[in-house]
Amino acid sequence: MEATTATNPLRTGLRMQRTPEPCTVVIFGSTGDLTHRKLVPALYNLQRERLLPPGFSIVGFARRDWDDAYFRESLRKEMEQYSRSGVQDSLWESFAEGIFFNRSSFDDPAGYQELARRLNEIDEQRGTGGNRLLYLSTPPGAYVDIIQQLGAAGLNRSPNGGWTRIIIEKPFGRDLASAQALNAEIHKVFDESQVYRIDHYLGKETVQNIMVFRFANGIFEPIWNRRYVDHVQITVAENIGVEGRGNYYERAGAMRDMVQNHLMQLLTLTAMEPPVGYDADAVRDEKVKALRAIRPIAPAEVDRYTVRSQYAGGTVNGQAVPGYLEEAGVAVDSRTESYVAIQFFIENWRWAGVPFFLRTAKRMPKRVSEIAIQFRSAPLMLFDSGPQNNIEPNVLTIKVQPDEGISLKFGSKVPGQVSQIRPVTMDFRYNASFGVESPEAYERLQLDAMLGDSTLFTRSDEVEASWSLITPIHQGWETAQALSTYEAGTWGSQAADEFIERTGRKWRRL
Ligand code: BG6
Repeated sequence: MEATTATNPLRTGLRMQRTPEPCTVVIFGSTGDLTHRKLVPALYNLQRERLLPPGFSIVGFARRDWDDAYFRESLRKEMEQYSRSGVQDSLWESFAEGIFFNRSSFDDPAGYQELARRLNEIDEQRGTGGNRLLYLSTPPGAYVDIIQQLGAAGLNRSPNGGWTRIIIEKPFGRDLASAQALNAEIHKVFDESQVYRIDHYLGKETVQNIMVFRFANGIFEPIWNRRYVDHVQITVAENIGVEGRGNYYERAGAMRDMVQNHLMQLLTLTAMEPPVGYDADAVRDEKVKALRAIRPIAPAEVDRYTVRSQYAGGTVNGQAVPGYLEEAGVAVDSRTESYVAIQFFIENWRWAGVPFFLRTAKRMPKRVSEIAIQFRSAPLMLFDSGPQNNIEPNVLTIKVQPDEGISLKFGSKVPGQVSQIRPVTMDFRYNASFGVESPEAYERLQLDAMLGDSTLFTRSDEVEASWSLITPIHQGWETAQALSTYEAGTWGSQAADEFIERTGRKWRRL
């Protein structure tokens, strides 16, 4: 009998290439770094690939005394450096004709009246049909003001039957209570279906591929569970420091900056059950279920299940770098963590008893992010594990960045007359297999929001479920745990090594 693949009209699969309807993106906080380095270069690259609709327009909204011409010029200057395809003058010029700037403080009602007028004018002149994508890229302290003002000015709904959606940057709250409060404020003005909470990790090709790898192949899912998996290690290591963002980082730390969002997303995608279809709610339902199955770490347990550290001065890539306490904007006695490791357990039938180790840090020896699934050893070893035989457990590694790919490590016989075993890898590399450059995360995500596809965005219950795991750890840290230090350019403190070694495992050498 022939094997069949079940199909279901609800299972719409991966998105086909589509062009969004004509629309305007309004960027609040448009004079900032994110707009210049990521958002506009991403939109320009979409334009270059002809994925943007005719009449596509951008309105910057910020406090500085800029005008249309100055905003265009300021964006143009950064394009050489931040656009992945460089910049072509004629294309930029036609793109820039659709770029405008509205000057206003975030709490001035008149600024929003003026914005409404400007948007109507763009609708008329450029045919954008009342479709608006509002993008909050301001410091989070401004979010509530902007949302309330948008509501008061009627900018939460579109004229002429168009659509209005809002993208909200991270950080989304600083603990469970503030995330709930922010959701409540948003829902007074916008329906959840209009809200796109962004986590740029979800826009990375390798991260989207986690679901494809797991659910488009028949051979991995049967072993993706407690019977075959010993533990999972998720690492997001960066070699950079706080890069002039000391003021922000002081209040965030690695936990709010990276764990609550990016690492929890990687964990969720690795652990979730197969969704009933590939649509926004089916996928996010399963992600929320996975988060709810994670056993919260109580404040009294932080010493056992978490480690936090801060970098001291050291050497990265052959260059001497200052310690965290010497960075601009950082308090001399700061206790903000730049390294976090956590051991989570997921209490469901698939994962009971399998530890998930998460670690992320700045000022590590190199930039590398991966998810490593370490399998149990063979039940009975026929070969001596003597000095000539190096028998290591099988590890499947999803390489998120750089060197994007997937590799499987297994033991192999070394050619020769003696039985000698050595680990080897089977590798898939994006570069070698596809030979095309991956789009930037912000390209995919802004395009999805224009298309009305929220699969790769975080739902309100999802962000709250994630905070409900992070907040008790912060509470425990307030009183309990010592902050260890590590030398910049090393893989972390001794406390971090001891933390995993207590469980009989070791951090992977990357
Ligand atoms: C951001 C953090 O969300 O992610 C930064 O605020 C961090 O501190 C960055 O450097 C890492 O992103 P990527 O895409 O370079 O891994």
